Amino acid sequence: MSKDYTHHFALIAEETENDYWRLIEQGAKEAAAENDIYLEYIAPQKADNEQLLRLFDRMIAAKVDGIIVQGIEGQRFVDLVHKAIERNIPIITIDTDVKSSERKAYVGTDNFYAGKLAGKTMIENTKGEQFVGIITGRFEAINQQERIAGFKAVIESDPRIQIVAKKESNITEIGATQATYALLKENPKINALVGMSALDGIGMVEGLQEIALNKDVYITAFDVLPETLDLIRSNKIDATIAQYPKVMGFESVEVMIDLQKQDLLENQIFTDTGIIKRQDLPKIHGVMR
Ligand code: BGC
Repeated sequence: MSKDYTHHFALIAEETENDYWRLIEQGAKEAAAENDIYLEYIAPQKADNEQLLRLFDRMIAAKVDGIIVQGIEGQRFVDLVHKAIERNIPIITIDTDVKSSERKAYVGTDNFYAGKLAGKTMIENTKGEQFVGIITGRFEAINQQERIAGFKAVIESDPRIQIVAKKESNITEIGATQATYALLKENPKINALVGMSALDGIGMVEGLQEIALNKDVYITAFDVLPETLDLIRSNKIDATIAQYPKVMGFESVEVMIDLQKQDLLENQIFTDTGIIKRQDLPKIHGVMR
């Protein structure tokens, strides 16, 4: 590391080559460049909590000046945050929070609220009975659990809508395709699909094509990756819930810089969330920042 850098921060993502995490990295690197920070982006090659926890521990041992990390379920994560704080290494959770940990701040979506938005759009834009299949990134991911809880909380008020089954995509497009195929085979009455992580919508459309259904399925996705927006444009996805990963990355570095001097008063920093449908596409120009 060159002497010109003021600080060395680590950003630990859920998985290396994931378009959503690459946007977080991009935002974080921009803020790092503006502030002469050395930012290291690391992640398991494929989503894997064990590996992420090991990387987290390794960064604590490397005595970096701050760690921005996706929150992980379970006591070991809480213990590692404690270990870091004891060694004066501030921790920020990004994308997924672990409120019970001693993290200094969370930067990201209010995931429960985001799940509620997915429920709201389904209530507002469907008619008649909706038998819902949920594709979720990983059952063990806290943000996915929060989104599903938010979704449930809203649809419970509408007797037309019920959840029939859930499957994991392992946060991959192919995983979402396979999960969709299996969901529909096992539950032919499903006529609405909700994807809870960034590549699920894209995979779901593919899965539907494979099973060659001729019924109309109402599809809600997550995130505004270019391919998802294309599928909204071509009417294959009905709505998506926008998150702002680049902003998360950028703000997390700025907050980490502040934490080098003092603790924050406000430690839950929610980035924006919104429902995007076809008619909203023109207004999300530049949404990635
Ligand atoms: C979630 C991330 C996840 C990503 C997977 C996003 O919607 O917020 O936690 O890693 O999807 O593609």
